Amino acid sequence: MSEVVLCEQSGRVAILTINRPEKMNALSEPVRAEMLAHLDRLAGDDGVGVVVITGAGEKAFIAGADIGEFEGRSPFDQRHAMRSPRVFDVMATYPKPVIAMINGYCLGGGCELALSCDIRIASNKASFGQPEVNLGLIPGGGGTQRMPRVVGTGQAMRLILSGDRIAADEALRIGLTDLVFPHEELRARTFELAERIASKSPLTLKVAKEAMRASERMGVEEGLLYERDLFCLCFASQDKREGVAAFLEKRAATWQGR
Ligand code: COA
Repeated sequence: MSEVVLCEQSGRVAILTINRPEKMNALSEPVRAEMLAHLDRLAGDDGVGVVVITGAGEKAFIAGADIGEFEGRSPFDQRHAMRSPRVFDVMATYPKPVIAMINGYCLGGGCELALSCDIRIASNKASFGQPEVNLGLIPGGGGTQRMPRVVGTGQAMRLILSGDRIAADEALRIGLTDLVFPHEELRARTFELAERIASKSPLTLKVAKEAMRASERMGVEEGLLYERDLFCLCFASQDKREGVAAFLEKRAATWQGR
């Protein structure tokens, strides 16, 4: 495997770094394939509780799909390139929390990748946008579906129809990023949160994520019933017994993930 995606681990947090800084970490076919391979492996690694995605270098998180790959492609070639499993959908349904650590340009497919993550944390130097309209294209990595759900239809329309780029503070104001930190603190602050999340029961994290993701496709009544069923399902777990016992015995819980 070449090294267009680096994978490191710190405690229970794995970090995947898109490593094409000279191309603003554009999502080429090899990048997507390596990301899928890493995600597949990390899903089965009990030593990993949370995955963080970021971009190499000081300028870009991910500046979108690799535009060079679009040239000369037929619709069938493009359909093949967009075959399932797609990295965006894999991350949204991933059995562990995925955090986007947005260190710079977060554009096009990069913004869509961030939108597929569970939590978005940005540097104050980051900027966001869906510039596909400038290429005679529309977002194709889920942007027209996920963006309105995250920021509302009006803000999504504004960003996708204009192709405008916005700064991190505005992204925070409209809910496109969840947190913003000074650039120098981004990694430490992201890891602080990632490690805190990764210290919880992996089983509970998986079920909580599943319940919240269901709200994207279910009506509220159906979603509330689904939540109730998942809540009751937790009563079958060793971790629920341990969590409740630890609280009552005034001690820290030790999670088994089952
Ligand atoms: N696909 C392929 N290559 C890309 C790219 C992308 N999405 N984004 C940047 N690059 C390449 C540039 O072509 C350039 O390559 P070169 O050095 O071989 O010419 C290199 O990355 C550096 O980019 P450059 O444009 O010189 O840097 P900049 O700091 O002036 O601008 C951006 C940075 C991100 C604002 C600008 O590169 C840009 O607008 N990129 C395209 C964003 C986009 O439209 N994304 C949606 C794709 S569907």
